[in-house]
Amino acid sequence: MNIEGVHHRTVRLDGRTVLLIDQPLLPHQFRIAEMGDHRATAEAIRTMVVRGAGAIGATGACGMAQAALEAPEIGFHDYVSAAANFLRETRPTAQNLFYGINTVLEAIAAQGDHLAAAREAAVAAANAVCDDDAACCEAIGQHGKGLILDGMQVNTHCNAGWLAFVDWGSALSPIYAAHRDGRRVHVWVDETRPRGQGAMLTAFELGQEGVDHSVIADNATGWLMKQGRIQLTIVGSDRIAANGDVANKIGTYSSAVCAKANGVPFYVAAPTTTIDPNCPTGGDIPIEERSGDEVGFTWGWSDDGVFARVRTIPPKGTRCRNPAFDVTPAELIAGIITEKGIVPASREGIASVARR
Ligand code: MRU
Repeated sequence: MNIEGVHHRTVRLDGRTVLLIDQPLLPHQFRIAEMGDHRATAEAIRTMVVRGAGAIGATGACGMAQAALEAPEIGFHDYVSAAANFLRETRPTAQNLFYGINTVLEAIAAQGDHLAAAREAAVAAANAVCDDDAACCEAIGQHGKGLILDGMQVNTHCNAGWLAFVDWGSALSPIYAAHRDGRRVHVWVDETRPRGQGAMLTAFELGQEGVDHSVIADNATGWLMKQGRIQLTIVGSDRIAANGDVANKIGTYSSAVCAKANGVPFYVAAPTTTIDPNCPTGGDIPIEERSGDEVGFTWGWSDDGVFARVRTIPPKGTRCRNPAFDVTPAELIAGIITEKGIVPASREGIASVARR
């Protein structure tokens, strides 16, 4: 997708360097961060320089390619498997991270002790994970755009656009496709406390693409649904369980409940790399709890041009808690938009599209 008319991918492997759009600086500043080795890449995932399921999956894959390129001849496989563990420990919820790491690990293992071939296979596999992510998201747009009728008002939560993937995005891809087809659409963008991915990233993306939108406080969504001002909700996902339960950014569950109560169709968009067939239900999905400081503090620009961390509302010393994701039960979901088509959020629907 384009920034100021120039096409960018969110994640890219360039030789031994991983290039990432530096997301915490957006929308104030556009910068490409350069990660020189797999440890730096892991740190970028942990600190959310890169975030969003598909983007961290691609970054994990690229980090594994870096590890294969860095690994010494003696102890090559030990080095690579330690790197995989290091990358896995960065964030627990998004299934794509594990998919990306394991895909490259398998490509390396397939070359046995032929180390030059293993390094080459790792780079090829990482690039393939990136290309596949972009292609899946583009296909999600084509499958999902029919849900968006001319003049519709659509709600989304967090950022599941191209910044959260290598390109196109999941929840926003159908919106981009409908908009490019000439349909008028207004997007109600949930701010997404505490990290503000909606206000900072989704609003930035939609603005770059010229899609009409308004940012709202997370707690305004239910009321807008009740007033009939939201006709459709599309969100992304970090992990989909085998029974169709969906983990996504904290606040998604509340929106789904409000959508159900008000007859608003609630769709989830995700590539099939987000499906975890080893999680029987949403209750088995590990939910990340991040530092309470993300609730108690935020970053922003003062009127006199200083970019600073400031305390938000809680009094000094107040304990803040920060569960980063929640699980929406399958019965609240109208359908899951994948690169293979729209399927029911059910055991059968998920099985019909899941990768092996
Ligand atoms: O914590 P983040 O920003 O990495 O959150 C992940 C997400 O981007 C969202 O939960 C999103 O809605 C689904 S993943 C594209």
